[in-house]
Amino acid sequence: SAAEKGGYDYFMLKEIVEQPQALSDTLLGRVTTDGTLTLDEMRISPAELRELEKIVVIASGTSYHAGMIAKYAIEHWCRIPCEVEVASEFRYRDPILNRQTMVIAISQSGESMDTLMAVRHAREQRARVLAICNVNGSTIPRESDGVLYTHAGPEVGVAATKTFLTQLAACYLVGLYLAQARDLKYGDEIRAVVEQLASMPEYVERVIGTVDRVRDLARSLAEASTVLFLGRHVGYPVALEGALKLKELAYIHAEAFTAGELKHGPIALIEDGLPVVVVAPSREGRGVLHDKIVSNIQEIRARGARTIVVAEEGDEVIRPFADEIVEVPSVPTLLQPVVATVPLQVFACELALAKGNNVDKPRNLAKSVTVE
Ligand code: G6P
Repeated sequence: SAAEKGGYDYFMLKEIVEQPQALSDTLLGRVTTDGTLTLDEMRISPAELRELEKIVVIASGTSYHAGMIAKYAIEHWCRIPCEVEVASEFRYRDPILNRQTMVIAISQSGESMDTLMAVRHAREQRARVLAICNVNGSTIPRESDGVLYTHAGPEVGVAATKTFLTQLAACYLVGLYLAQARDLKYGDEIRAVVEQLASMPEYVERVIGTVDRVRDLARSLAEASTVLFLGRHVGYPVALEGALKLKELAYIHAEAFTAGELKHGPIALIEDGLPVVVVAPSREGRGVLHDKIVSNIQEIRARGARTIVVAEEGDEVIRPFADEIVEVPSVPTLLQPVVATVPLQVFACELALAKGNNVDKPRNLAKSVTVE
């Protein structure tokens, strides 16, 4: 009913707007004002965390994109090797696991069969398994050693939105907690990140307040048959997520590439008028990548692409090269996916609505896939 949808026509629209609340509920009680973290609920002790030699993240769909971002954060903050793999591939390649490995299984529903099978395999190999999950008491957390729940509330729309943003928050919490437990690099940078993490709900609120322009843009692209997405570093998983959303909701052919790979093939796809969404890296600490993406934008524009650039507020360097610019607040690089994903959710949702699609129940898809 309309009441259940909080006055919106679709659950997805409501769930996008609920993201600031979902984030603050997920951070509540876990981030303290002095910049330290409390995650005793995880049931994997700091002593165990200190013994770890490797982390492996497994997940499917949108949750896999959260896992890719977790890898960047964990390796940078904790200096532990971290692999990430789609759950359906994991156990079939005989992965190397032992007691010093922590497997992080990310699943919104806690019921995806591919992820559950990967969890069972990991436990048979004696790895410690930590679930990141949004549904209390679901199968994956019950079969794991520990769990960190996201508090997004029920998500009805088939395409994940608020559960994804809260998965990111949970991954950051785990990464920062690991850094704290291992007492590695837990210095000023980490403290600053913790502080910024606590401000994420406000930043996302701000992004939501500015997405009307994205809506107009999406409607103007309703006839597009292909949209490409480019990103680098943590902007790459964001690009993958933007492309996935567009496929799922608008049934448009969408593909994401790392901007550096462009010249090794995908640039051949660029033709006049082709929309290309570029997720620009933040300038903080990544000046080199920023320069490189500016030249990528120039290259594709010279070949006729219509460039839609998601960039930091006040990024005047990139502006002259963008046909359309979508600004997001400036935050530490590793946290940028939280703000940069939101306009891409709105973009896909609005484009799908312009085509007359039901965004809550896209064709051929299920909210949780309980077969392998
Ligand atoms: C299905 C859904 C996706 C979701 C994926 C993983 O394919 O349609 O939106 O990302 O499952 O779901 P999970 O519950 O494991 O996060």
